[in-house]
Amino acid sequence: MDYEREYRRYVGLVEETIERLLPQTQEACPADGGIPKLLCESMRYSLLAGGKRVRPVLLLAACEALGGALEEALVPAAALEMIHTYSLIHDDLPGMDDDDLRRGRPTNHKVYGVGQAILAGDGLLNFAYERLLQNALAYPQNLAGHVHAAEAIATRAGVTGMIAGQCLDLLAERMEPDESLLRYIHAHKTADLLTAPLLAAAHIAGAGEAAFAALTEFGACVGLAFQIDDDLLDVQGDAALMGKQTGMDAQRGKMTWPSLVGVEEARASSSRLWDRAIASLSPLGERAWFLTEFAQKLRVRTH
Ligand code: IPE
Ligand code: IPE
Ligand code: MG
Ligand code: MG
Ligand code: MG
Repeated sequence: MDYEREYRRYVGLVEETIERLLPQTQEACPADGGIPKLLCESMRYSLLAGGKRVRPVLLLAACEALGGALEEALVPAAALEMIHTYSLIHDDLPGMDDDDLRRGRPTNHKVYGVGQAILAGDGLLNFAYERLLQNALAYPQNLAGHVHAAEAIATRAGVTGMIAGQCLDLLAERMEPDESLLRYIHAHKTADLLTAPLLAAAHIAGAGEAAFAALTEFGACVGLAFQIDDDLLDVQGDAALMGKQTGMDAQRGKMTWPSLVGVEEARASSSRLWDRAIASLSPLGERAWFLTEFAQKLRVRTH
């Protein structure tokens, strides 16, 4: 199979689904229950600004690998990208990481102001769940699978998941690096939203226990490696390629993997995690070829 073609196919499906779910609206003050033009525009501004689409691609690819219906997974994949994008809009706010550039564009609050940026994030989060629930109702023959998938996404995006990680990420600013705290932060602020698509896909596809276990381990390793690499890119990456500013973690006194163990050891930790991630797919055999390639590409990413 051709990896690049498959990757482009998945990204194309994600973009199409987002466009179908959230087309631009024209009325400033819609009378018909539509989304106000400004809100729709600010949500789309960040959602359609590119981005690697890692989480929805994982969801679609895992669903296909497990023999699930791709069509059933399109809305969950787009919804997860909306939740991820909301987390980025809020992460960039002045009260959080206070960043000016995201996905190669001025951050949402730089364009729309802090108040509207908060609402664009809230809007994407809520809209994601509206669409997830409507999608579940559209497949009554697989209702339980879809409800479990939505639950997996909600839990990992929520107050014991990504939000918990973000809470401690902020709290840990300017604290002495501490390994167990940093592992907690990375596991939740990042790994949870990378495990969510794999579990959601497994539920939609009605996978067995062995697949759940393999994908849970894969997601945890990919998540930690992905955040260590993000921390490394903040130190050594090319801001133009990444579409976001570098050097910000040190400026804000963030607790990061390089600040804990140094750049060399951080690189080695990430490499071990990528090896473990790829090995964890072995119970899936040939079916995991795309996920394996995807991990190989992500481990050498420059943005
Ligand atoms: C950025 O996520 C936030 C982290 C968890 C490090 P991505 O690196 O996936 O950002 P996009 O979606 O490609 O913009
Ligand atoms: C953010 O981690 C993780 C989220 C939940 C958004 P970072 O704060 O390191 O992500 P970037 O570097 O701003 O993309
Ligand atoms: Mg942050
Ligand atoms: Mg940030
Ligand atoms: Mg970062």
